[in-house]
Amino acid sequence: MSEKTSFNQNKNLLLGVTGGIAAYKCADLVRRLKERGFNVRVVMTPGASEFITPMTLQAVSGHPVHQDIFDQAMEAAMGHIELAKWADLLLIAPATANTIAKIVHGKADNLLTTIVLASKAPLMIAPAMNQQMWANSVTQSNIEKLSHSGVTVLGPGAGEQACGDIGAGRMLEPLDIAQQVQSIAYGDKPLTGKKVLITAGPTVEAIDPVRFISNHSSGKMGYAIAKAAKIAGAEVHLISGPVSIGEPFGVQVTRVTSAAQMFDAVKNSVEGVDIFVGCAAVADYSPVEVSCQKIKKNDEEMCLLLKRNPDILAWVANRAERPYVVGFAAESQSLKFYANKKLEKKKLDMICANDICCEGLGFNSEDNQLLLLDKSGEEKLLNVASKEVLAQQIIEQIAMKLNEA
Ligand code: PMT
Repeated sequence: MSEKTSFNQNKNLLLGVTGGIAAYKCADLVRRLKERGFNVRVVMTPGASEFITPMTLQAVSGHPVHQDIFDQAMEAAMGHIELAKWADLLLIAPATANTIAKIVHGKADNLLTTIVLASKAPLMIAPAMNQQMWANSVTQSNIEKLSHSGVTVLGPGAGEQACGDIGAGRMLEPLDIAQQVQSIAYGDKPLTGKKVLITAGPTVEAIDPVRFISNHSSGKMGYAIAKAAKIAGAEVHLISGPVSIGEPFGVQVTRVTSAAQMFDAVKNSVEGVDIFVGCAAVADYSPVEVSCQKIKKNDEEMCLLLKRNPDILAWVANRAERPYVVGFAAESQSLKFYANKKLEKKKLDMICANDICCEGLGFNSEDNQLLLLDKSGEEKLLNVASKEVLAQQIIEQIAMKLNEA
């Protein structure tokens, strides 16, 4: 299915690609922006073509790539002033320290910096550079100046860098950039001023120092909801079981292991929250006793005595001062029937039901399909799509319901 969302006024976006290793991600970025309805044209600085070919970006954008301010053929077709006027938005990704410095000083020494100077369109930059270059006080002061003059700075993220360093300076992932650009472009921040608490991932219940009880949750669905809520303007706190995905940009993350720890973290954070989304696959049971020594395999059979874990979602929904509560239902049969039972029994406002037996959907998959059931009896099927797109749709539904209330 197409990942195009409900936004249909196509805006013209000029993507400036500068010379950093992250330029190789721009083909994906162009694709993500086009999926979101943007008309994309690409301008490359001379350094950018060392990292990605103009041909690649021409193929994905569907338009010739602009590189040279003195290219007569390009100037005849769409000159730098026309490009500057054509753009509703300017995005520079990756934005190197060099290009950032040039923009701060109003330099116009290549096609991209000339267009930036000649355009009235809002400018967004996704910095990408070595962590030491990012931390340098000159770069920081340049970023501050740009932010003060209304430029939106997307990221950077932190982590391992191409040069082997670890730290801040990585370009945000294309999907994150595209989502943020979309929400900025369409002024769509329906959760501004709202606090959202989300649980995600599995919980892990120790049996002994070696073994544990857990499940196949990867955290992808819950992390996507955290990102979507953040992009929708909310202050987001994610309580996550053990997963191996990166922390969403701008989201507070608390890491836990067991259901008991997740419950404690929720209890400590729920005060003042407007929306709670329980997406974690919390283990329903944990061992009554955790052996501090590795259990020996002496017998042919062994019994493990389990105790019921507290239901975190139901606890939140039963609070006197409760937020808007959204649960998930992972079902392998009679999806709607069992999801409705959970909606009622746990006193939820909304439940997102997924059939976890469908190949390629549910646990540890890129895509999902969800049936949203509302306490008023309304239902909405969110067709198969990536978890990011579904997360955005869930957030839109929640925002709509909060507006109605
Ligand atoms: O993480 P992914 O790989 O992306 O997979 C996504 C997912 C399949 C895990 C997700 O879409 C999902 O369905 N999450 C809920 C999984 C689950 O535990 O469902 P359940 O039907 O057993 O629980 C119902 C609800 O109660 C859930 O909101 C759950 O978070 C909550 N619960 C359950 C038990 C418990 N002790 N405390 C809870 O809060």
